[in-house]
Amino acid sequence: MKHFLDIHKTTRGELRAMIDQARRMKDARDGRPKGMADDETPLAGRMVALIFEKPSTRTRVSFDVGIRQMGGQTMVLSGKEMQLGHGESIADTARVLSRYVDLIMLRTFEEATLLEMAEHATVPVVNGLTDASHPCQIMADIVTYEEHRGAIAGRRFVWSGDGNNVCSSWLHAAGQFGFDLTFTGPETLDPDPGAVAFARSRGSNVTIERDPVRAADGADAIVTDTWVSMHDPESARERRHNQLRPYQVDARMMAAGKPDALFMHCLPAHRNEEATSEVMDGPQSVIFDESENRLHAQKAIVRWCLGV
Ligand code: CP
Repeated sequence: MKHFLDIHKTTRGELRAMIDQARRMKDARDGRPKGMADDETPLAGRMVALIFEKPSTRTRVSFDVGIRQMGGQTMVLSGKEMQLGHGESIADTARVLSRYVDLIMLRTFEEATLLEMAEHATVPVVNGLTDASHPCQIMADIVTYEEHRGAIAGRRFVWSGDGNNVCSSWLHAAGQFGFDLTFTGPETLDPDPGAVAFARSRGSNVTIERDPVRAADGADAIVTDTWVSMHDPESARERRHNQLRPYQVDARMMAAGKPDALFMHCLPAHRNEEATSEVMDGPQSVIFDESENRLHAQKAIVRWCLGV
């Protein structure tokens, strides 16, 4: 059984196969109405549970649509409305759901919850975001970068702002796909040391540069995310805004990158906070392609998990 729990827990060969599969499936849909099933429906007769303990627009809709395009069926469940939110253990939930469905996608808070679900489920479990990582997003982002600029290996990405869960998955990807990453942000919001160590152990050059324009110098892509994540306390908002304001991605920062540098953001964004609207809507931005590619990347991930 194959769970998709994190980019650093999946082999390079498997990750590359999923990216290539995603691109093939995207190409094969060219010109096909959005809701229509694919030519191939490898999920016919399969049922997938999509569990959300946090809000979602992209993850929820892209998994739901993608599974239907492949001929499968879905049920979208809110953690709060399940017995899971009222004292039933994760292990028992995993055992019960495994009697009904073929795959479980879980968006949750603590990574330990995801790991416990995977340990006790007898069907594949996919990480739809935890406080520690967001691997489906970064798989979609790899598809996006490569469809615009070719192979990601050997490039240098800049992450600007909070070294959060999405940043960790970028670091895991840097190690697995062979690119470098410069973090620019305040010291108190540095990325997870474990994710940095993983990337470095795989040969990625990970650097930290406190000056955002110097960090962006010669970059192939500049990436950011919201300053306050879903798991951050609301009381931290003002302090974070003050700390992160110098790391807003603006025209000056983009101009420091290569002329063909891409601007990337997983969305949702707070416009004119972590990035200006000028950059988000500018010619270097691929943010809506990233959203679309959630669909294609996750279809490949689900197929890999189910071996279909
Ligand atoms: N990027 C992302 O995961 O978006 P949602 O929170 O809307 O699912």
